[in-house]
Amino acid sequence: DRAEPVNISQRSEAAQKLKIGIYFATWWALNVVFNIYNKKVLNAFPYPWLTSTLSLATGSLMMLISWATRIAEAPKTDLEFWKALAPVAVAHTIGHVAATVSMSKVAVSFTHIIKSGEPAFSVLVSRFLLGETFPVPVYLSLLPIIGGCALAAVTELNFNMTGFMGAMISNLAFVFRNIFSKRGMKGKAVGGMNYYACLSMLSLVILTPFAVAVEGPQMWAAGWQKALSQIGPNFVWWVAAQSVFYHLYNQVSYMSLDEISPLTFSIGNTMKRISVIVSSIIIFHTPVQPVNALGAAIAIFGTFLYSQAKQ
Ligand code: 3PG
Repeated sequence: DRAEPVNISQRSEAAQKLKIGIYFATWWALNVVFNIYNKKVLNAFPYPWLTSTLSLATGSLMMLISWATRIAEAPKTDLEFWKALAPVAVAHTIGHVAATVSMSKVAVSFTHIIKSGEPAFSVLVSRFLLGETFPVPVYLSLLPIIGGCALAAVTELNFNMTGFMGAMISNLAFVFRNIFSKRGMKGKAVGGMNYYACLSMLSLVILTPFAVAVEGPQMWAAGWQKALSQIGPNFVWWVAAQSVFYHLYNQVSYMSLDEISPLTFSIGNTMKRISVIVSSIIIFHTPVQPVNALGAAIAIFGTFLYSQAKQ
Protein backbone atom coordinates (compact mmCIF):
# COMPACT_ATOMS: atom_id res chain seq x y z
CA ASP A 1 0.00 0.00 0.00
CA ARG A 2 2.73 2.39 1.03
CA ALA A 3 4.48 2.06 -2.30
CA GLU A 4 1.42 3.31 -4.17
CA PRO A 5 1.94 7.09 -3.99
CA VAL A 6 5.47 6.62 -5.33
CA ASN A 7 4.13 4.52 -8.18
CA ILE A 8 1.50 7.09 -9.02
CA SER A 9 4.02 9.93 -9.01
CA GLN A 10 6.47 7.85 -11.05
CA ARG A 11 3.73 7.07 -13.51
CA SER A 12 2.66 10.70 -13.86
CA GLU A 13 6.30 11.73 -14.30
CA ALA A 14 6.69 9.12 -17.05
CA ALA A 15 3.44 10.33 -18.66
CA GLN A 16 4.68 13.94 -18.56
CA LYS A 17 8.00 12.90 -20.15
CA LEU A 18 6.13 11.01 -22.87
CA LYS A 19 3.91 14.02 -23.51
CA ILE A 20 6.92 16.37 -23.86
CA GLY A 21 8.62 13.76 -26.09
CA ILE A 22 5.57 13.67 -28.38
CA TYR A 23 5.42 17.49 -28.46
CA PHE A 24 9.12 17.69 -29.37
CA ALA A 25 8.90 15.07 -32.14
CA THR A 26 5.81 16.76 -33.62
CA TRP A 27 7.43 20.21 -33.37
CA TRP A 28 10.57 19.03 -35.19
CA ALA A 29 8.69 17.18 -37.94
CA LEU A 30 6.38 20.14 -38.61
CA ASN A 31 9.37 22.45 -38.64
CA VAL A 32 11.25 20.41 -41.24
CA VAL A 33 8.21 20.53 -43.55
CA PHE A 34 7.85 24.29 -42.97
CA ASN A 35 11.50 24.93 -43.79
CA ILE A 36 11.36 22.97 -47.03
CA TYR A 37 8.23 24.68 -48.38
CA ASN A 38 9.36 28.07 -47.12
CA LYS A 39 12.60 27.78 -49.09
CA LYS A 40 10.85 26.43 -52.20
CA VAL A 41 8.57 29.48 -52.08
CA LEU A 42 11.43 31.92 -51.46
CA ASN A 43 13.48 30.46 -54.34
CA ALA A 44 10.61 31.18 -56.76
CA PHE A 45 9.22 34.26 -55.03
CA PRO A 46 11.91 36.21 -53.12
CA TYR A 47 9.59 38.40 -51.04
CA PRO A 48 10.19 37.34 -47.43
CA TRP A 49 8.20 40.23 -45.93
CA LEU A 50 5.06 39.00 -47.67
CA THR A 51 5.63 35.31 -46.95
CA SER A 52 6.22 36.16 -43.25
CA THR A 53 2.98 38.13 -43.20
CA LEU A 54 1.06 35.30 -44.89
CA SER A 55 2.29 32.80 -42.28
CA LEU A 56 0.95 34.97 -39.47
CA ALA A 57 -2.29 35.72 -41.34
CA THR A 58 -2.94 32.02 -42.00
CA GLY A 59 -2.30 31.11 -38.37
CA SER A 60 -4.55 33.90 -37.15
CA LEU A 61 -7.33 32.81 -39.49
CA MET A 62 -6.99 29.14 -38.48
CA MET A 63 -7.33 30.09 -34.82
CA LEU A 64 -10.28 32.46 -35.37
CA ILE A 65 -12.09 29.65 -37.19
CA SER A 66 -11.20 27.18 -34.42
CA TRP A 67 -12.62 29.54 -31.81
CA ALA A 68 -15.76 30.33 -33.82
CA THR A 69 -16.49 26.63 -34.43
CA ARG A 70 -15.49 25.77 -30.83
CA ILE A 71 -12.81 23.32 -31.95
CA ALA A 72 -10.73 25.29 -29.46
CA GLU A 73 -12.03 27.37 -26.62
CA ALA A 74 -11.39 31.10 -27.08
CA PRO A 75 -9.27 32.61 -24.29
CA LYS A 76 -10.66 35.23 -21.93
CA THR A 77 -8.32 38.18 -22.29
CA ASP A 78 -8.30 41.75 -21.01
CA LEU A 79 -6.42 44.89 -21.92
CA GLU A 80 -3.67 44.05 -19.45
CA PHE A 81 -3.06 40.75 -21.29
CA TRP A 82 -2.69 42.48 -24.66
CA LYS A 83 -0.47 45.18 -23.17
CA ALA A 84 1.83 42.53 -21.70
CA LEU A 85 1.78 40.68 -25.03
CA ALA A 86 2.87 43.75 -27.04
CA PRO A 87 6.66 43.50 -26.38
CA VAL A 88 6.53 39.73 -27.02
CA ALA A 89 4.78 40.39 -30.34
CA VAL A 90 7.37 43.00 -31.34
CA ALA A 91 10.15 40.48 -30.61
CA HIS A 92 8.29 37.68 -32.43
CA THR A 93 7.72 39.89 -35.49
CA ILE A 94 11.36 40.98 -35.68
CA GLY A 95 12.68 37.43 -35.12
CA HIS A 96 10.32 35.94 -37.69
CA VAL A 97 10.89 38.44 -40.48
CA ALA A 98 14.66 38.52 -39.87
CA ALA A 99 14.89 34.70 -40.15
CA THR A 100 12.80 34.69 -43.32
CA VAL A 101 14.87 37.48 -44.91
CA SER A 102 17.95 35.44 -43.98
CA MET A 103 16.58 32.29 -45.64
CA SER A 104 15.74 34.27 -48.78
CA LYS A 105 19.45 35.14 -49.11
CA VAL A 106 21.32 32.02 -47.98
CA ALA A 107 20.90 28.24 -47.72
CA VAL A 108 18.40 27.06 -45.08
CA SER A 109 21.20 25.09 -43.43
CA PHE A 110 23.35 28.22 -43.02
CA THR A 111 20.53 30.20 -41.36
CA HIS A 112 19.96 27.33 -38.94
CA ILE A 113 23.65 26.88 -38.15
CA ILE A 114 23.79 30.53 -37.10
CA LYS A 115 20.50 30.11 -35.26
CA SER A 116 21.99 27.23 -33.28
CA GLY A 117 23.92 29.99 -31.48
CA GLU A 118 20.70 31.12 -29.76
CA PRO A 119 21.73 29.79 -26.29
CA ALA A 120 24.81 32.05 -26.42
CA PHE A 121 22.55 35.04 -27.02
CA SER A 122 20.37 33.89 -24.15
CA VAL A 123 23.31 33.94 -21.73
CA LEU A 124 24.61 37.29 -22.98
CA VAL A 125 21.18 38.94 -22.75
CA SER A 126 20.57 37.48 -19.27
CA ARG A 127 24.03 38.58 -18.13
CA PHE A 128 24.25 42.09 -19.56
CA LEU A 129 20.62 43.21 -19.69
CA LEU A 130 19.00 41.30 -16.85
CA GLY A 131 22.03 41.19 -14.55
CA GLU A 132 21.87 37.39 -14.10
CA THR A 133 25.19 35.66 -13.49
CA PHE A 134 26.14 32.08 -14.35
CA PRO A 135 28.79 29.59 -13.21
CA VAL A 136 32.08 29.70 -15.15
CA PRO A 137 31.39 26.44 -17.12
CA VAL A 138 28.34 28.11 -18.67
CA TYR A 139 30.48 30.94 -20.04
CA LEU A 140 33.12 28.44 -21.20
CA SER A 141 30.48 26.49 -23.12
CA LEU A 142 29.81 29.63 -25.16
CA LEU A 143 33.29 29.38 -26.69
CA PRO A 144 32.52 26.32 -28.89
CA ILE A 145 29.07 27.73 -29.73
CA ILE A 146 30.45 31.08 -30.87
CA GLY A 147 33.64 29.59 -32.35
CA GLY A 148 31.71 26.87 -34.23
CA CYS A 149 29.23 29.38 -35.67
CA ALA A 150 32.10 31.67 -36.67
CA LEU A 151 33.97 28.81 -38.38
CA ALA A 152 30.81 27.76 -40.24
CA ALA A 153 30.17 31.36 -41.29
CA VAL A 154 33.66 32.11 -42.66
CA THR A 155 33.78 28.82 -44.59
CA GLU A 156 30.23 29.13 -45.99
CA LEU A 157 30.40 28.92 -49.77
CA ASN A 158 27.38 31.16 -50.31
CA PHE A 159 28.01 33.67 -47.55
CA ASN A 160 25.84 36.75 -47.68
CA MET A 161 25.90 39.55 -45.10
CA THR A 162 22.11 40.11 -45.07
CA GLY A 163 21.58 36.37 -44.63
CA PHE A 164 24.07 36.28 -41.74
CA MET A 165 22.74 39.40 -40.00
CA GLY A 166 19.12 38.25 -40.39
CA ALA A 167 19.89 35.04 -38.51
CA MET A 168 21.81 36.97 -35.81
CA ILE A 169 18.97 39.49 -35.33
CA SER A 170 16.51 36.60 -35.17
CA ASN A 171 18.58 35.00 -32.39
CA LEU A 172 18.53 38.17 -30.32
CA ALA A 173 14.82 38.85 -30.88
CA PHE A 174 13.77 35.27 -30.03
CA VAL A 175 15.72 35.28 -26.76
CA PHE A 176 13.59 38.24 -25.63
CA ARG A 177 10.47 36.59 -27.02
CA ASN A 178 11.05 33.38 -25.07
CA ILE A 179 11.89 35.05 -21.76
CA PHE A 180 8.88 37.39 -21.93
CA SER A 181 6.54 34.65 -23.21
CA LYS A 182 7.34 32.36 -20.32
CA ARG A 183 6.73 35.23 -17.89
CA GLY A 184 3.49 36.08 -19.67
CA MET A 185 2.16 32.50 -19.52
CA LYS A 186 3.19 31.79 -15.93
CA GLY A 187 0.18 31.37 -13.70
CA LYS A 188 -2.14 32.79 -16.38
CA ALA A 189 -5.36 31.25 -17.65
CA VAL A 190 -4.20 31.46 -21.30
CA GLY A 191 -2.40 28.23 -22.26
CA GLY A 192 0.34 27.74 -24.86
CA MET A 193 -1.94 27.23 -27.87
CA ASN A 194 -4.08 30.31 -27.32
CA TYR A 195 -1.13 32.38 -26.19
CA TYR A 196 0.57 31.70 -29.51
CA ALA A 197 -2.69 32.43 -31.39
CA CYS A 198 -2.93 35.89 -29.76
CA LEU A 199 0.78 36.42 -30.45
CA SER A 200 0.24 35.67 -34.16
CA MET A 201 -2.64 38.11 -34.38
CA LEU A 202 -0.77 40.96 -32.71
CA SER A 203 2.37 40.26 -34.78
CA LEU A 204 0.28 40.31 -37.94
CA VAL A 205 -1.02 43.79 -37.06
CA ILE A 206 2.55 44.98 -36.41
CA LEU A 207 4.12 43.41 -39.49
CA THR A 208 1.55 44.24 -42.21
CA PRO A 209 2.31 47.99 -42.60
CA PHE A 210 6.06 47.28 -42.67
CA ALA A 211 5.64 44.55 -45.30
CA VAL A 212 3.64 46.96 -47.48
CA ALA A 213 6.28 49.68 -47.01
CA VAL A 214 9.32 47.44 -47.68
CA GLU A 215 7.96 45.36 -50.58
CA GLY A 216 4.41 46.40 -51.47
CA PRO A 217 1.59 45.16 -53.73
CA GLN A 218 3.26 46.11 -57.03
CA MET A 219 6.32 43.94 -56.41
CA TRP A 220 4.15 41.15 -55.05
CA ALA A 221 1.84 41.08 -58.06
CA ALA A 222 4.71 40.97 -60.56
CA GLY A 223 6.60 38.34 -58.51
CA TRP A 224 3.49 36.21 -58.05
CA GLN A 225 2.81 36.11 -61.81
CA LYS A 226 6.41 35.16 -62.49
CA ALA A 227 6.39 32.38 -59.88
CA LEU A 228 3.07 31.04 -61.14
CA SER A 229 4.32 30.95 -64.73
CA GLN A 230 7.54 29.16 -63.67
CA ILE A 231 6.10 26.67 -61.19
CA GLY A 232 2.44 26.39 -62.20
CA PRO A 233 -0.54 26.10 -59.84
CA ASN A 234 1.53 24.06 -57.36
CA PHE A 235 3.14 27.33 -56.30
CA VAL A 236 -0.08 28.30 -54.48
CA TRP A 237 0.03 25.00 -52.55
CA TRP A 238 3.62 25.64 -51.55
CA VAL A 239 2.64 29.03 -50.14
CA ALA A 240 -0.30 27.46 -48.31
CA ALA A 241 1.92 24.67 -46.93
CA GLN A 242 4.62 27.03 -45.65
CA SER A 243 1.96 29.20 -43.96
CA VAL A 244 -0.01 26.36 -42.35
CA PHE A 245 3.09 24.48 -41.19
CA TYR A 246 4.58 27.69 -39.79
CA HIS A 247 1.57 28.09 -37.55
CA LEU A 248 1.39 24.44 -36.55
CA TYR A 249 5.04 24.06 -35.55
CA ASN A 250 4.96 27.26 -33.53
CA GLN A 251 1.73 26.27 -31.86
CA VAL A 252 3.21 22.95 -30.76
CA SER A 253 6.43 24.66 -29.64
CA TYR A 254 4.39 27.02 -27.43
CA MET A 255 2.44 24.07 -26.01
CA SER A 256 5.86 22.68 -25.01
CA LEU A 257 7.15 26.02 -23.67
CA ASP A 258 4.11 26.15 -21.42
CA GLU A 259 5.34 22.95 -19.71
CA ILE A 260 9.12 23.35 -19.70
CA SER A 261 11.76 25.95 -18.84
CA PRO A 262 13.10 28.39 -21.47
CA LEU A 263 16.43 26.50 -21.18
CA THR A 264 14.93 23.11 -22.06
CA PHE A 265 13.03 24.88 -24.83
CA SER A 266 16.15 26.38 -26.38
CA ILE A 267 17.96 23.03 -26.21
CA GLY A 268 14.99 21.31 -27.89
CA ASN A 269 15.12 24.05 -30.48
CA THR A 270 18.82 23.46 -31.20
CA MET A 271 18.23 19.70 -31.54
CA LYS A 272 15.44 20.57 -33.98
CA ARG A 273 17.97 22.48 -36.09
CA ILE A 274 20.04 19.32 -36.59
CA SER A 275 17.09 17.68 -38.39
CA VAL A 276 16.44 20.85 -40.42
CA ILE A 277 20.12 21.25 -41.39
CA VAL A 278 20.50 17.62 -42.47
CA SER A 279 17.19 17.38 -44.35
CA SER A 280 17.59 20.71 -46.16
CA ILE A 281 21.16 19.84 -47.27
CA ILE A 282 19.82 16.60 -48.76
CA ILE A 283 16.71 18.09 -50.38
CA PHE A 284 18.30 21.25 -51.80
CA HIS A 285 21.66 19.58 -52.64
CA THR A 286 23.46 22.29 -50.66
CA PRO A 287 27.22 22.09 -51.23
CA VAL A 288 29.05 21.67 -47.90
CA GLN A 289 32.78 21.69 -47.28
CA PRO A 290 34.11 19.43 -44.50
CA VAL A 291 35.45 22.41 -42.52
CA ASN A 292 32.04 24.07 -42.80
CA ALA A 293 30.32 20.96 -41.42
CA LEU A 294 32.93 20.83 -38.65
CA GLY A 295 31.99 24.38 -37.61
CA ALA A 296 28.31 23.40 -37.40
CA ALA A 297 29.12 20.26 -35.41
CA ILE A 298 31.28 22.22 -32.93
CA ALA A 299 28.51 24.79 -32.44
CA ILE A 300 25.90 22.11 -31.79
CA PHE A 301 28.23 20.22 -29.47
CA GLY A 302 28.74 23.53 -27.64
CA THR A 303 24.98 23.72 -27.07
CA PHE A 304 25.09 20.26 -25.54
CA LEU A 305 27.93 21.38 -23.20
CA TYR A 306 25.94 24.51 -22.39
CA SER A 307 22.92 22.46 -21.37
CA GLN A 308 25.08 20.29 -19.12
CA ALA A 309 26.78 23.32 -17.57
CA LYS A 310 23.51 25.12 -16.99
CA GLN A 311 21.86 22.18 -15.29
C1 3PG B 1 10.74 32.09 -38.58
O1 3PG B 1 10.39 32.36 -39.70
O2 3PG B 1 10.19 32.51 -37.54
C2 3PG B 1 11.92 31.19 -38.47
O3 3PG B 1 12.06 30.43 -39.60
C3 3PG B 1 11.75 30.35 -37.32
O4 3PG B 1 12.84 30.21 -36.61
P1 3PG B 1 12.85 29.11 -35.48
O5 3PG B 1 13.41 27.90 -36.12
O6 3PG B 1 13.71 29.72 -34.42
O7 3PG B 1 11.43 28.91 -35.02
